[in-house]
Amino acid sequence: MTSGDAGGNAGGGRPAGGTPTIGGTGGPGSGVRLDGKVALVTGGASGIGLASARRFARAGATVVVVDLDGDQAAAVAAELGGAALRADVASSDAWPSVVAAGRAVGGIDIVHLNAGVTTGQQEITELTDEEYRRIMGVNVDHVVFGTRACVPEMAARGGGAIVVTASLAGLVALPGDPVYTLSKHAVVGFVRAMAPRLQEQRITMNAVCPGMVDTPLLAGEVRDLLVDSGFPLIDPDAVAGAVVDCATGEATGMLMTVQAGSDPVAYRFARPPGPRVAGAEGRVPPGWLGDPGQPPPVTS
Ligand SMILES: NC(=O)c1ccc[n+]([C@@H]2O[C@H](COP(=O)([O-])OP(=O)(O)OC[C@H]3O[C@@H](n4cnc5c(N)ncnc54)[C@H](O)[C@@H]3O)[C@@H](O)[C@H]2O)c1
Repeated sequence: MTSGDAGGNAGGGRPAGGTPTIGGTGGPGSGVRLDGKVALVTGGASGIGLASARRFARAGATVVVVDLDGDQAAAVAAELGGAALRADVASSDAWPSVVAAGRAVGGIDIVHLNAGVTTGQQEITELTDEEYRRIMGVNVDHVVFGTRACVPEMAARGGGAIVVTASLAGLVALPGDPVYTLSKHAVVGFVRAMAPRLQEQRITMNAVCPGMVDTPLLAGEVRDLLVDSGFPLIDPDAVAGAVVDCATGEATGMLMTVQAGSDPVAYRFARPPGPRVAGAEGRVPPGWLGDPGQPPPVTS
């Protein structure tokens, strides 16, 4: 369809919130139809984004592949009959063009904010400013800018779905890349805080949190280490199945873990201690100062 260069709700107005609905008869992500919908995928030229772009296209959606690698994005778009845009999604300047690419094929119903990088740096003393700014730009700024840009588009269409590729490193520590861990914890917190705020606009927002996935991101030393140790890698298509489920289900604010050999499982944080002041035991702060996704207070 279209190709360019730049620096609705998936279910058509279904309510946000509710119980996680994961997996159909043919496994996660199968059996849904997205005909007439537009799905925009950042980092869609490779790995998990490529797999989710293929899944969305197979379900009938028009896919907009956004990637820094414009040639590869164009090749994927040609394969899927979709649109491609070369863009650096870490830059806020890129987002008007990204939104325009979605509008050009009908408007944005689903956005998969997926592009991401690692630092490859275990030693904090050796981390350069450039490495730090790059990872925070791609892994964190991109998610904030993408959400900010796409929410009004979806709200105007009566709803939509945002899925962020976080990582298991957003839930547990990855000492092999502490700044990657920082960036993924940041987006997990953002998704948890944004989801309730988007419910009125009928926009769901969820994160997928995969373990080690067999993509070019892991290629080389890290992949060799994992394979040699017998650690099972996840097929990117399995992550894509969880992405499609998150984008088409009614649940919001979910952190969907994906591991090799099992269906995706929603992760819940334990509730931290509340106040212990007499008359206010376990009280949650009022209004938007409290987390509506938390389980009921523990008072004993
Ligand atoms: N591979 C894993 O083990 C793993 C595990 C958990 C989470 N993740 C996350 O999954 C996401 C996708 O990673 P992947 O493993 O598929 O990696 P990948 O390297 O195969 O794909 C990432 C894609 O993002 C693109 N990209 C990078 N920076 C960009 C930018 N500034 N603007 C636009 N596009 C950009 C790249 O060109 C590439 O096509 C990332 O957020 C990553 O952190 C990966």
